[in-house]
Amino acid sequence: MRVLRCLIATRSSAAREPTRCHDRLQRPEGVDVARRTARQRGASRRPRDLFRSHERGPRPPRRHDREVHRGRDHGRLRPTATPRGRRPSSGPGSRRDARDPRDREPTPPSGLRHPSGEPYRRLHGRGRRRRHHDRPAAGPVEPLELKGKAERVPAYQLLHAGAGEGRVRRVDLPLVGRAEQLLALSEILDEVRETSRPHLVTVVAPAGTGKSRLLHGFLDGRGRGSTSLVGRCLPYGEGITYWPIAEAVRGLAHVLEDDPAEVVAERVGTLFADIPDAGRRVASVIGLTDDVYPAEEVAWGVRRLVESLATRDPVIMLLDDIHWAEQTLLDLAKELVETVDAPLLLLCGTRRDLFDDHPEWPKDGERVRVMDLAPLSHDESNLVLGSLLGTGTVDPAVAGWLTAAAEGNPLFLEQLISMLVEDEAVRQEDGRWVAVKPLEELEVPATITSLLASRLDRLGPTDRTVIERGSVMGQSFFRGGVEALSPEPVRPLVPSSLDSLETKELVHSTGDLFVGLPIYRFQHVLIRDVAYEGMLKRTRADLHEAFVDWVEQAAPDRLREFEEIRGYHLEQAYKIRIEIGTPTVALGPLGERAADHLGSAGRRAMARSDVPAAATLLRRAAALLPPDHPERPKLLLVAAEALIEQGAFTEADDTIQTTIDEAAALGNRSLELTARILGLELAYTTAPEEVEDSLVKRVERMIPELESLANHEGLARAWRLLMFVHEMALRWGDAEAAAVKTLEHARSAGHRLLEIRAIPSLGYCALNGPTPVPEAIGRCRILLDASRATLEELGWSFLAAQTSFDSGPVELLAGDPKAAESELARDYQTLERMGEKNYISTTAALLARAVYEQGRYGEARTFVEISRELAADDDVTSQVLLRGVHAMILARANEHAEAETMARSAVQMSESADAPEAQGNALLDLAEVLSIAGDREGAAGALTQAIARFESKGMSVPAERAQAQLASLARSVAEEPSVPS
Ligand SMILES: Nc1ncnc2c1ncn2[C@@H]1O[C@H](COP(=O)(O)OP(=O)(O)OP(=O)(O)O)[C@@H](O)[C@H]1O
Ligand SMILES: [Mg+2]
Repeated sequence: MRVLRCLIATRSSAAREPTRCHDRLQRPEGVDVARRTARQRGASRRPRDLFRSHERGPRPPRRHDREVHRGRDHGRLRPTATPRGRRPSSGPGSRRDARDPRDREPTPPSGLRHPSGEPYRRLHGRGRRRRHHDRPAAGPVEPLELKGKAERVPAYQLLHAGAGEGRVRRVDLPLVGRAEQLLALSEILDEVRETSRPHLVTVVAPAGTGKSRLLHGFLDGRGRGSTSLVGRCLPYGEGITYWPIAEAVRGLAHVLEDDPAEVVAERVGTLFADIPDAGRRVASVIGLTDDVYPAEEVAWGVRRLVESLATRDPVIMLLDDIHWAEQTLLDLAKELVETVDAPLLLLCGTRRDLFDDHPEWPKDGERVRVMDLAPLSHDESNLVLGSLLGTGTVDPAVAGWLTAAAEGNPLFLEQLISMLVEDEAVRQEDGRWVAVKPLEELEVPATITSLLASRLDRLGPTDRTVIERGSVMGQSFFRGGVEALSPEPVRPLVPSSLDSLETKELVHSTGDLFVGLPIYRFQHVLIRDVAYEGMLKRTRADLHEAFVDWVEQAAPDRLREFEEIRGYHLEQAYKIRIEIGTPTVALGPLGERAADHLGSAGRRAMARSDVPAAATLLRRAAALLPPDHPERPKLLLVAAEALIEQGAFTEADDTIQTTIDEAAALGNRSLELTARILGLELAYTTAPEEVEDSLVKRVERMIPELESLANHEGLARAWRLLMFVHEMALRWGDAEAAAVKTLEHARSAGHRLLEIRAIPSLGYCALNGPTPVPEAIGRCRILLDASRATLEELGWSFLAAQTSFDSGPVELLAGDPKAAESELARDYQTLERMGEKNYISTTAALLARAVYEQGRYGEARTFVEISRELAADDDVTSQVLLRGVHAMILARANEHAEAETMARSAVQMSESADAPEAQGNALLDLAEVLSIAGDREGAAGALTQAIARFESKGMSVPAERAQAQLASLARSVAEEPSVPS
């Protein structure tokens, strides 16, 4: 009976869940299924278990109909669904933002040393001048009547303004106020330390309020005993998903901009010395290698890094400006907080736009907090003023006027006072700052942007030229680049001009070097934006292009790292030239050059399943080419695929249509047919009832032509679509034949991702098809071995180590728990060695089952306990599995009451996820428990319910087997000698 039950349970794992798809397919556009669809791409095989494969279903239709949310546990069942919004494109443009050690100053990981043997230390850039002893002091005076203010404004006299030079000082001054926030952060850090659990704090406020200042202040103060990873999202060039991770890792490794590639590789390698697998994954996304790993493996690599850094001290990860983050990075951040098994404090700075663009971003929860940062109070604004003005006291009227005008925005205050001092509207007389003319006559620009514009308008021509050249590059910029981009007569003046801009508080030197010359940074990104906007469009276009020429020649060994960035600048040049009326024909080479970079970055993003970035980059690339360019429809085809994965069906449909038209116009029939197949796949996904009758015929008609064109990719796609359709119709034999063809053509096309995706499907078809069970099992074994080998060959060992989610149950189905154990134990050991703590709970639960099947109940209990220890409370898959096995172990130990309670809790838990197969399996476990206890009636009831669950999903095999079990139960009751009354 045991084996039979196992066969039912495990055989069912290989069945599909082909019904109830169509009604759920038509999610409105905008209800985002991006991550789930991205995650379901076969590129990254989803972790699977006894229940998983049913939840997967035939891919295109099923990937949009999940009711069970595959969230933090990467595909395992969870009881809730979270709709997500897609991210619109982001902000204004400019060049890459060079890394700034001022902002990343990492605290070294404990015990880590430089390759030189020196311990790590925090770096301070040359531009960083902290003067904590300069702390100013202020005291209240009579409230003031100010022009434009109905109420009297509280005023403060600056008692002591600290040391200074009679001018506005640099702004890297003490953090003023924010005591409440610092205390809250400190308390959270304490909790992180005590519980060894991750926490997320998102600090929200408008630009210039002081989010970054607060977070860096916290890192510099209370955060010093922790290891910090600091990265910032860029305001432009969507698609640069992992930039903040690269910045954080390079910062932690103390890599400077000018370090040669070998030094960078060596230093980053040192960080990953104990976790080389994770190191390879992270290196692949920070421009250090050409390897490609799926986003899921990358997230795992980052998670391992955090866990390994956190073995002694907590890790503080600061991701700033996440309103500009790519979806995949936000997913990674959320996943870190949900899955890291270590003391991690993830701090994020953002403007409020984040919540409009990403309503799914966590806002509350046990370990989640959103901190709204209010403007500074008058008192605090006065202290900032004191810091800025340096020595002497400030006329209370002037102080009151300034702080009232700034309305608590320290950036506004800094820039306003700098402007007034520069204009000599405010000056120091006998140690006291006073207004030169009546305050009513002083003008206050209405917005921070107009204030910054007036400041820049006051610059002389050289300074203006220099700041504008800088602004083309980004918030951080290179002196070498400014010189290269400046007209001949200005070049020798660049260093002194940068000094003068520094004095004016517009830029500062970061202390880092690029090609031997200093890197500078705008005091605030808004200053960059205003400087950039102030240039003629033609000049901007020339400079963007010239900058790419310069960087290619200045840093030839970093071109891969800068690929998206170079693409971005060339794209800007192209777009601006179009705007100013340059004929498109004249822009051919420029467009091609830009499209080349963006297209190659897009393909890489696609290969690692970073579909939001891939869709953006590929579409941007295509937009730079004329409609008759042969590369354009090729880019659009991949973009369309990414859009489908993202759930952006309308855009995908448009893109496919354009691809078909353009490929046809170019006479590229092969591409046209491939696009048509993608179009049919989309139609089958979004409106299956409209196409399902004719679809098979339509695809079959295309196949001979694809064959004559030897278009293996098109053929693989065609057969894959047929496979889906047959699966949905439960025509397993046809589905299996189509799966075989898919695999064959994917291999001939050399399309590894299509190949990897097809292998498991073929397994399911084989198991469900007409092939006799033993043969089907044999075939599955071969396929799963091939799948494992392919993943290992690609170096995707993390995904390879999830093979036993399939092969374990297959062996159990084959009645060979020993083989199941060997498969599962192999992966268990790998995952354990990799330090994996998320998936391994499912592997342990399955292992418990394989060991239980062999009668080794004590060992099975050990694995149950391991799984319980590691499984999250809401990880339904692991919890249901482990409870089922635990219940059966208890029943065998004659602890019947406890066993039944446990088995029923598994059933109840399985009900919370819409997963009839999981429910059926939990009911089978319950039947076993009741049967051992002699409650045959109860066992029969549970079996009947299990059968109903399986049948509700058309899972005939497990249903039939449960029927057989039920019949055998009935027979044994009949055969039992009746007890005389
Ligand atoms: N509490 C403070 N004490 C002293 N200076 C501050 C304080 N808060 C902010 N500043 C200064 O104000 C300026 C703007 O602050 P910051 O860059 O942190 O703003 P932000 O909220 O991060 O803006 P953005 O949304 O653009 O990133 C900086 O020069 C910073 O040093
Ligand atoms: Mg900021």
